[in-house]
Amino acid sequence: MRTISIQQHSKSFDLECSDIAPDKSISHRCAMFSLLSNKTSIIKNFLLGEDTLSSLSIAEQLGAKILREGSNVTITPPKKLSEPNNILDCGNAGTGMRLYAGLLAGIEGSFILTGDKYLRSRPMNRVAIPLRDIGAKIDGRENGNLAPLAIRGGKLNSFRYNSPIDSAQVKSAFILAGLQADKTSYYKEDLLSRDHTERMLRGMGAIVETNDEGWIEIQPLSTPLKPLKITVPADPSSGFFFAVATAITPNSKTVIKNVTLNPTRIEAYKVLEKMGANISFVEKENIYEPIGDIEITYNGKLSAVTVEKNIAWLIDELPALSIAMAMANGTSIVKNAKELRVKESDRISTVLEGLNSCGIETIEHEDGYEVVGGELSSATINSYGDHRIAMSFAIAGINCGMKIEDTACIDTSFPNFFEILSQITTIE
Ligand code: S3P
Repeated sequence: MRTISIQQHSKSFDLECSDIAPDKSISHRCAMFSLLSNKTSIIKNFLLGEDTLSSLSIAEQLGAKILREGSNVTITPPKKLSEPNNILDCGNAGTGMRLYAGLLAGIEGSFILTGDKYLRSRPMNRVAIPLRDIGAKIDGRENGNLAPLAIRGGKLNSFRYNSPIDSAQVKSAFILAGLQADKTSYYKEDLLSRDHTERMLRGMGAIVETNDEGWIEIQPLSTPLKPLKITVPADPSSGFFFAVATAITPNSKTVIKNVTLNPTRIEAYKVLEKMGANISFVEKENIYEPIGDIEITYNGKLSAVTVEKNIAWLIDELPALSIAMAMANGTSIVKNAKELRVKESDRISTVLEGLNSCGIETIEHEDGYEVVGGELSSATINSYGDHRIAMSFAIAGINCGMKIEDTACIDTSFPNFFEILSQITTIE
């Protein structure tokens, strides 16, 4: 529990951010996928957040040798992943738990995956049920839906699975299972969810190819993969808090440097652009993914927007986007976003509770909400242990002052968030 007060700050700023937290999704995958090689992976700029450090510790418990100097990490996998002599703690990370479930389901041994009280209340059936259908032995509370999950790894059957959810976590769990299955497997989702898994595994030499009908073909591994050599780019979801700060503060500008420009990750910036902010993307290199800079410039008061498509591409940014909606002219609408209810908190309810405390009118729907743009006023916000709720309302605090309760969760994904925020406002 850490309560922080953000002071209202109406001055413009010009921020060059070269220290936005490294990408969380990519860092998790580096920790896990390095286990599929037989050589040492070299990872620079690994996210030292609690979530991804949990994934790294689990890799170590499975037998990997890990050397860490600051954010530079080398991971040398064991010849054969070993059965750990203790439970595997994923902390707050849904990505950690769901991806490890897919990986461990195919490895001989007994594994217990657990997490903090928030993760232990999030649904695991989305991976547990279909993985059981291909031969995995997974159990947990409420018929296997809630962690701790007990996994007895073993042989997996190949599959052809058309997923009812557009989720990179479910997809990645299946790709990891498919790499260990007896024959070629196929996976499909309606909207392409973030595709770091496919890109990184392909870069490591795995055959994970998408055909014209959108089926991902996954070939079982016949040899170990090439090791990773990567500098993790900045996380666009973390950078987005400062994009919103810029879009609501007159005469301000921010450049977010060396961030992944993967199209499945920058949709929220496009929505903010549609609301009126000036945004440009400059691609500089391509290492597993396109990487470059994003420049955001204030361009007058924002206008309301309706968000109903490509929801999986902006699911993590909707809390911060809601702050922009609260300060826009008109009523903004979010639809088809029921996945928000099963994130680190029920984000429809936590976002609306926070906005209402700030005097903003909202309407709640089962799969979305409406935000009537207006004047934000200072309030005390409960983050419910959700890092993105805490950071979104901290950003709103620039406009009107804000007290945020329970900010320790920010360390799961963005440990230096307040350091950067303190460059544009005063924090107590
Ligand atoms: C993630 C996928 C998303 C996202 C999460 C990270 C990943 O979840 O919300 O923060 O790294 O695969 P879903 O795939 O469940 O939508």
